[in-house]
Amino acid sequence: MTTEALPADWRPRPHTPLDAHDVHVWRVALADEARAASYWALLSDDERRRASRFVRDVHRRRFVLAHGALRIILAGYVGTEPTSLDFVTGEHGKPALRQGSGWPAVEFNLSHSDDLALVAVAHARPVGVDLERWSEGVEYLELAERFFSPGERDALRALAHAPRLVEQGFFAAWTRKEAYLKATGQGITRGLHHFDVALAPGDPPRLLADRLDDGATARWSMIALEPAPRYSAALVVAAPLGLVLQFTM
Ligand SMILES: CC(C)(COP(=O)(O)OP(=O)(O)OC[C@H]1O[C@@H](n2cnc3c(N)ncnc32)[C@H](O)[C@@H]1OP(=O)(O)O)[C@@H](O)C(=O)NCCC(=O)NCCS
Repeated sequence: MTTEALPADWRPRPHTPLDAHDVHVWRVALADEARAASYWALLSDDERRRASRFVRDVHRRRFVLAHGALRIILAGYVGTEPTSLDFVTGEHGKPALRQGSGWPAVEFNLSHSDDLALVAVAHARPVGVDLERWSEGVEYLELAERFFSPGERDALRALAHAPRLVEQGFFAAWTRKEAYLKATGQGITRGLHHFDVALAPGDPPRLLADRLDDGATARWSMIALEPAPRYSAALVVAAPLGLVLQFTM
């Protein structure tokens, strides 16, 4: 497919150059039915098969929008057409771009929650992003017992005097832990309890320790993102981190 053949909203948008240490984060709304219909043509057979497996229309629409947008965004950095991109999957499921000859070494990560997605893009450096919409009626301290490390549980309990802070701290930790697991690409294969992230409001987002990887705290940068009200998000990228530029599409 040539650029000329693409309807206007499929054209790769003008991109700010991606400098070596910078990360670009794109916020993508996943609610537009008409746009979803037009993105269908951008997807691979495999992506269409995955989309078709969703039982509910809303989930199919979100998948098509997220993956169509991912292709448009990445094509802009690589300098090719969205349909020309091909993806490979790492040992634990992390998707990466299959390199074409002469293409820049673009790395990315995708996260979606409800009607919003984030795509983080970095140059030749692993990156992870996680987005969570705050859910109602969650027993945060109970969930933390299952998913958080002992140090994180203590930090969350220290906020128990203010339910609002517990909610904020819980989603801060959840997204930071997920973003770290997604940056390393290991997912939950090594569990969730062997590393600690800072979670208290006011404490800078940071990997505090990884008991399975001594040098990790110096090798990874972590920041919090605020994509929309009642969403938490975090970005983790191999250090050093330059600028984080945010875009909406
Ligand atoms: C994919 C995973 C790493 C994150 O899943 P998630 O938070 O539910 O979903 P997100 O929307 O943030 O990310 C999904 C995207 O991450 C990417 N992804 C998949 N596997 C990945 C991996 N191993 N590493 C990095 N990215 C991955 C894919 O692009 C995927 O999108 P797709 O499903 O539309 O193709 C999941 O396998 C996982 O490990 N979940 C852990 C759940 C958990 O117990 N969390 C507790 C946190 S305290």
